[in-house]
Amino acid sequence: MERTFVMVKPDGVQRGLAGEVILRLERRGLKLVGAKFMQVSRELAETHYAVHKGKPFYEGLVRYITSAPVMAMVWEGPNAIQAVRQTMGATRPTEAAPGTVRHDFALEVGRNLTHASDGPETAVAEIGLWFKPSELVSWDRATDDWIM
Ligand code: TYD
Repeated sequence: MERTFVMVKPDGVQRGLAGEVILRLERRGLKLVGAKFMQVSRELAETHYAVHKGKPFYEGLVRYITSAPVMAMVWEGPNAIQAVRQTMGATRPTEAAPGTVRHDFALEVGRNLTHASDGPETAVAEIGLWFKPSELVSWDRATDDWIM
């Protein structure tokens, strides 16, 4: 079982697509274990995107991510990291496969709707950066109990 950090970025929230992203991950079979709707501070944005510091798009990226609220989440499932990246699609929306979130709803790399951890180490680091352990919930699905 694996956990991954996922964020609906400000453009996704502004466009009313947070639910769409959650819907797709839920239907894929992944399980939500943590979520918060929040305004990102400059400090958090700089730590999260530290690997991109100095690149031409860095300043714009930090400004974008701090410009409006985001939906920060942790999702769990077998191969969750790879599965979520696949559902989101390639970083550049024009290179994302049809049927992915970025293909279906975005055009520009600087407004690509979502973030998802890109590997096991980043997932652990990002979950630790965005969430306290007490904000994550371990739970079992009991679908039948809720239907009958
Ligand atoms: P990156 O970590 O390469 O992609 P991903 O979000 O798919 O893991 O880049 C982080 C974000 O930086 C990316 O989602 C959008 C932004 N970005 C640009 O604005 N321009 C670029 O040329 C690149 C590579 C990224």
